[in-house]
Amino acid sequence: MACVLLTGGNGYIGSHTTAVLSERGHDVIILDNFSNSGRDVPDRLRRLTGKTFPIIEADIRDTATVTAALAEFPIDAVIHFAALKAVGESEADPLLYYDMNIVGTIRLLEAMQARNIRRIVFSSSATVYGQPDFSPIPEDAPTRVQNIYGRTKLVMENLITDLARTGKLLGAANLRYFNPVGAHPSAMIGETPAGVPNNLMPYVCQVASGIRPFLQVFGSDYDTPDGTGVRDYIHVMDLAQAHAAAVEHLLANDTAFTVNLGTGIGISVLDLVHAFEHANKRKIEYKIVPRRPGDVASYFANPEAAEKLLGWKARLGIEEMCRDAWVWEAKRGGINDV
Ligand code: NAD
Ligand code: WQD
Repeated sequence: MACVLLTGGNGYIGSHTTAVLSERGHDVIILDNFSNSGRDVPDRLRRLTGKTFPIIEADIRDTATVTAALAEFPIDAVIHFAALKAVGESEADPLLYYDMNIVGTIRLLEAMQARNIRRIVFSSSATVYGQPDFSPIPEDAPTRVQNIYGRTKLVMENLITDLARTGKLLGAANLRYFNPVGAHPSAMIGETPAGVPNNLMPYVCQVASGIRPFLQVFGSDYDTPDGTGVRDYIHVMDLAQAHAAAVEHLLANDTAFTVNLGTGIGISVLDLVHAFEHANKRKIEYKIVPRRPGDVASYFANPEAAEKLLGWKARLGIEEMCRDAWVWEAKRGGINDV
């Protein structure tokens, strides 16, 4: 088995990937500056997995500290989650996103090179596609980034691909996530959005728990079956399994690839609301309001490449996503009748 360092491993997707990698017999090292995740997560992971994971508290841009830390463990590969991920924030503060997401990744790659660590799995995003011509979206679809955040992801994909092409990296995987949602079925770890959630599922959960009075449905006049926005929601546990499959593939092959991580199933806003109500027996009040600027009508993945290359396929459906998201949210809010 392998020793895998997870930058941002204390975060939403990183913590779930830690649990899955551990379950598959790998050693996990977490590097995180705790800027967007709780100090309780390492203990939650210990109680969930029965293992204590070494934590390197550092900023990926601190090359000296990161380089020194990488020498402490026999690291075989890195999964790079650490980044800022809010589209609106990226448009308001481009230099922050260029520094954190691009400079941060370059500093990490420099530290990896100094320690001869030459395999990386990179957290990219379907945002790189911008407004797609059609769905399901294949990996060779045009990348028409429409915001600073998406551009940072595309720039880093290209840089990582170039480092693999020039032999500086032996293994490189760009994983384009669609819409991760849900939580570990144990409800020991999950998503902890700060402030008012931007994303649909955590907002629906907060309506269900009474924190928010109703959901604003951003537009019902899109060219979609019910007029509301269509997305490819993927359970975070399926996403975590995909990361394990990707890093295991890189450890067995000197290769570079880019794959979509989605279910291939388009779910509308109202589809999700109805699935949530059915899965959790809770009414979700909503109001139709004008479209959110920057939203696209519909996008969902062609997931075939990941299945062919990695033997991975999303297994969990929208009702499991809604159920696990709710049980986590309810537990956090002290709601017992879930
Ligand atoms: P998250 O914010 O929950 O986790 C990111 C973690 O990285 C946090 O623990 C944070 O403390 C840490 N971090 C941030 N900047 C850091 C830095 N400079 N140095 C060290 N640690 C740092 O985010 P997430 O939802 O788990 O997303 C993980 C990755 O997946 C990100 O790269 C994100 O862009 C990408 N992604 C997320 C989504 C989504 O909807 N959640 C979708 C597509 C892609
Ligand atoms: C989903 C649908 C909204 C909230 C974002 C980022 C993307 C990626 C994933 C990082 C849309 C509708 C939402 C609400 C609503 N993150 N909606 N009311 O915008 O597809 O993707 O998260 O990589 O970069 O852009 O996800 O959950 O915000 O929206 O009607 O209160 O739900 O219009 O159709 P999105 P989302």
